[in-house]
Amino acid sequence: MKHILLGVVMLTLLAACGSESDPAELVADLVAGKAIAEADCADCHGMDGHGASTDIPYLAAQSEQYLVEAMHAYRDGGRLHPALQDMTARMSEADIVNIAGYYASQPALENVSNQQNNEAAYTEGAAVAAICETCHGEKGISTEAGMPSLAGQQPIYLMTSTQEYQTGSRGHEGTQDMLEGLESVDIEKMAMYFAAQSAPAREPAPFGDAVAGEATAADCGKCHGARGISNDPMVPNLAGQDPVYLVSAIKAYQVKERDCEALTTPRTDEQVENLAAFYSIQKSVASVHDELSGKEMAVKCDRCHNPTSHERKLSVPSLNGQSHDYLVKAMKEYRQEDRDNSMMHKMSTRYNDEMIEALATYYAAQKN
Ligand code: HEC
Ligand code: HEC
Ligand code: HEC
Ligand code: HEC
Repeated sequence: MKHILLGVVMLTLLAACGSESDPAELVADLVAGKAIAEADCADCHGMDGHGASTDIPYLAAQSEQYLVEAMHAYRDGGRLHPALQDMTARMSEADIVNIAGYYASQPALENVSNQQNNEAAYTEGAAVAAICETCHGEKGISTEAGMPSLAGQQPIYLMTSTQEYQTGSRGHEGTQDMLEGLESVDIEKMAMYFAAQSAPAREPAPFGDAVAGEATAADCGKCHGARGISNDPMVPNLAGQDPVYLVSAIKAYQVKERDCEALTTPRTDEQVENLAAFYSIQKSVASVHDELSGKEMAVKCDRCHNPTSHERKLSVPSLNGQSHDYLVKAMKEYRQEDRDNSMMHKMSTRYNDEMIEALATYYAAQKN
């Protein structure tokens, strides 16, 4: 942020002095810009600003001021791509303005269908999940007493618990061998696949008193949600879970086989069964709606990136219709401070891979 503010101040000062090399004063010569594009950029960015591969950002219809600043950032070392650093080091200020003007003036691109990307990830997730479905049921809907359902489970919880089995830190012999060799991207896709399912309503458990369980569950709602649907992707949903599994899981915490402070309070078997009876008949819902969650999170980003009024800041890039893979890469770079922008960095530390994926999917599917 400091960086940007400073830039704006500098531009204003320079403008006040009427300096010749002030980029704000330079007017883009689109013909000259086109010549540079043909000679130096088209191989990768196309003449129309459409990247030649998925890691190359689209430049068409991007904010001209942002393109200028992005090139300055490569030239001055704030962004680290070697080819771009080298190329921009050899460009004059006028070249930079001309080429920015050229790409900014290209018409917005037709969206590449992101639906296809989503569907591919879902199909791959389903393929990994097939080895789990033999026990956990088709689509993760368990039909065997004592076997947990994975359908509709919170995706980060699914990932972390699967990884705990994989590394052996959460018991359950046999699982470790089965999970051997699964890459974390496979686990992520598998988790997204299960999270996107929802289980049909269960018959009441053959034990326990759901009404009495509901009263006790008041202690649990803070984390697990009022009816067992948590709002936190790290905290598991309990709604619609197999009741026998719920009993054994709650007891595992009480005897400290599993770790959760909130569950160490001693409870009678009857109380535990009541809780399980209550949660097992709550409605299960899918916990991943790709489009929706990306869209919800994007509201915060749109304040700067897609303002409804006409006050778009000149140096804030448009994200709509940008290459999905490039968006993911850019956000991860901000997160790990490989790309210099303290404000975007601060914001992105809160976003895990799954949220970044959802945001990138959402923006890539928007019309630019
Ligand atoms: C060898 C392939 C290649 C060539 C040639 C190339 N670029 Fe790029 N360009 C890339 C890649 C890859 C990125 C993303 C780099 C990153 O992650 O920071 C990029 C990023 C950019 C960005 C930042 C876009 C954004 O949304 O932040 C601008 C601006 C840009 N290039 C302009 C140009 C211009 C102008 C030329 C010609 C002078 C050019 N590039 C030539 C591959 C190329
Ligand atoms: C041989 C049967 C079997 C197979 C195959 C199997 N699991 Fe399990 N899984 C279980 C059992 C039994 C439990 C309950 C263990 C416990 O109480 O910790 C469990 C528990 C889990 C849990 C914890 C659920 C929760 O709500 O905490 C996750 C996550 C999980 N399995 C993921 C997977 C994945 C992913 C696969 C496929 C790669 C898989 N399992 C394959 C039997 C199986
Ligand atoms: C302070 C927050 C918090 C409260 C309050 C809380 N839990 Fe949890 N619960 C968690 C977290 C976090 C986990 C996941 C821990 C893990 O990875 O083993 C969890 C896990 C569980 C599990 C295992 C689910 C599974 O799929 O394996 C059950 C069952 C459970 N809680 C039941 C309850 C019940 C019943 C109550 C109320 C008596 C309760 N919890 C109160 C945070 C909480
Ligand atoms: C307060 C304003 C502001 C907010 C809010 C904001 N951004 Fe940004 N964003 C910027 C600015 C300014 C830049 C350009 C920084 C640079 O040059 O690296 C940027 C750059 C980016 C880029 C790089 C784009 C490119 O073409 O290289 C991505 C991706 C991005 N933001 C994503 C997001 C997401 C996702 C959110 C919401 C979680 C968000 N931003 C919220 C101001 C904002």
